[in-house]
Amino acid sequence: MLHRQTKDTVRATLGSLLQKKQPLLILLAVLLPAGTIAEEIIGGHEAQPHSHPYMALVELTLNGTEEQCGGFLVEEDIVLTAAHCWGSPMSVILGAHDIVLQENTQQEIPVKKAIRHPDHNNVPQSNDIMILQLNTKAKLTAAVGLLPLPGESDHVRPGQVCSVAGWGWISENNQTSKLHEVDLTVQEDIQCESRYLNYNRTIQLCVGDPQKKMCTFKGDSGGPLVCKNVAQGIISYGNTIGTPPRVSTKISSFLPWIKKTIKGLQLEESP
Ligand SMILES: *[C@@H]1O[C@H](CO)[C@@H](O)[C@H](O)[C@H]1NC(C)=O
Ligand SMILES: *[C@@H]1O[C@H](CO)[C@@H](O)[C@H](O)[C@H]1NC(C)=O
Ligand SMILES: *[C@@H]1O[C@H](CO)[C@@H](O)[C@H](O)[C@H]1NC(C)=O
Repeated sequence: MLHRQTKDTVRATLGSLLQKKQPLLILLAVLLPAGTIAEEIIGGHEAQPHSHPYMALVELTLNGTEEQCGGFLVEEDIVLTAAHCWGSPMSVILGAHDIVLQENTQQEIPVKKAIRHPDHNNVPQSNDIMILQLNTKAKLTAAVGLLPLPGESDHVRPGQVCSVAGWGWISENNQTSKLHEVDLTVQEDIQCESRYLNYNRTIQLCVGDPQKKMCTFKGDSGGPLVCKNVAQGIISYGNTIGTPPRVSTKISSFLPWIKKTIKGLQLEESP
């Protein structure tokens, strides 16, 4: 990791070079190790407010500490997220753009039941998927909507460009309260197999071009990888310095479990 002091030195150097009107991009490539400037690290930008109406901010308490993750609404009372985002209690905020504000589009709903995949494992991370049943149904509005799951034969291919959004860190030491988004390219599995010892191509997707400084980071976990308007992945893990490619849970491998579990929850509801 690059520490603040080094970073300030780099900025000062950049500043003096910029005054001499040197080409910035080449200098950045030469001076900076991967992922060191705010915004550059995920290469994203602030989303148009409410352009991802399925996005849920998942708030959880773990051992007395409050944490947050992303998630997405798939039915009026069902949010999907990553299993490693489990905590107790949990709640979700739907319809948010700036999470430090009390926006009138926001709906905060407590989680009634959190079901982690029975084979979820934290170290190494696998089967990182969790279904949240909400206490009450969300009201669908212009700012709150559903994201479809893929069909059985709907597969993503390497080279396909998908989008992610999140309220996670936008650099190694900078957080944001506004939803950010970035387009990412699905990679060949080998790209993650060569970097992550326990990457499993049957149940995971490798996302983010290693040549570009664009990726998800801390706090984005649980959010969806959206390809052709369906949820194909759930943001799961990556390295600690915030560079691509990173690993998402492959939703298409879990469709039977998702459907069976949601049906079970709905049956419990009916008298
Ligand atoms: C939370 O507390 C439990 C025991 O109370 C401990 O085993 C676990 O490691 C703690 N988790 C974290 C993330 O601190
Ligand atoms: C954090 O990001 C915001 C928004 O991009 C920016 O205005 C601010 O200067 C950044 N702060 C640091 C410490 O990099
Ligand atoms: C990858 O995941 C599949 C499906 O869960 C599992 O059957 C297989 O054993 C896993 N592979 C490894 C190497 O763990």
